[in-house]
Amino acid sequence: GSAREQDIKHILLTEQQISDKLDELAAQIDADYADRDVLLVGVLKGAVMVMADLSRKLKHTRTSMDWMAVSSYGSGTKSSGVVRILKDLDADLTGRHVLIVEDIIDSGLTLSWLISNLRSRGVASIEVAAMLRKPDAAKVEVDVKYIGFDIPNEFVVGYGLDYAEQYRSLPYVGTLAPHVYEG
Ligand code: PRP
Ligand code: MN
Ligand code: MG
Repeated sequence: GSAREQDIKHILLTEQQISDKLDELAAQIDADYADRDVLLVGVLKGAVMVMADLSRKLKHTRTSMDWMAVSSYGSGTKSSGVVRILKDLDADLTGRHVLIVEDIIDSGLTLSWLISNLRSRGVASIEVAAMLRKPDAAKVEVDVKYIGFDIPNEFVVGYGLDYAEQYRSLPYVGTLAPHVYEG
């Protein structure tokens, strides 16, 4: 296989499994919002794939898209829960139905902060759609209405998820072979 395929130890979720799950989530979202206008808020950069694929599967929900980029204060890979806005939304959220779109909920700290931040802007409603969740990594409970898969607490890449900004474009989700981070 290719160089990047050799960096993947195990494929956790295939392209087909992801697509089938997004069909299910889109049907739920269509049923719940039933012709209302929804503002999809993608969290850069990991959420780009879920945003692109999920939004195109919505058949009855009228959507707009906006994007936020945030960065966690604190050292290294450990999220502190204190979040800095790198790019804020363009849209005014007053009276809007907001659906946050995320690739993964790890500690839950990013999303927990984001929900309270966006809720305080006068939204009509706010919900979350996340492709992946690691229940064993949770430091804070986040109320997520639309969840794709619960996965083990292992480092995963692909479908938007990166290791040092690489592997986001893999069409599947896989675990990383140890030789990659052992140098
Ligand atoms: C990752 C992921 C989520 C967040 C989850 O983003 O895409 O946004 O971390 O972690 P948490 O639940 O522990 O807060 P990252 O900060 O790596 O930025 P990226 O999306 O640009 O990769
Ligand atoms: Mn992210
Ligand atoms: Mg990342």
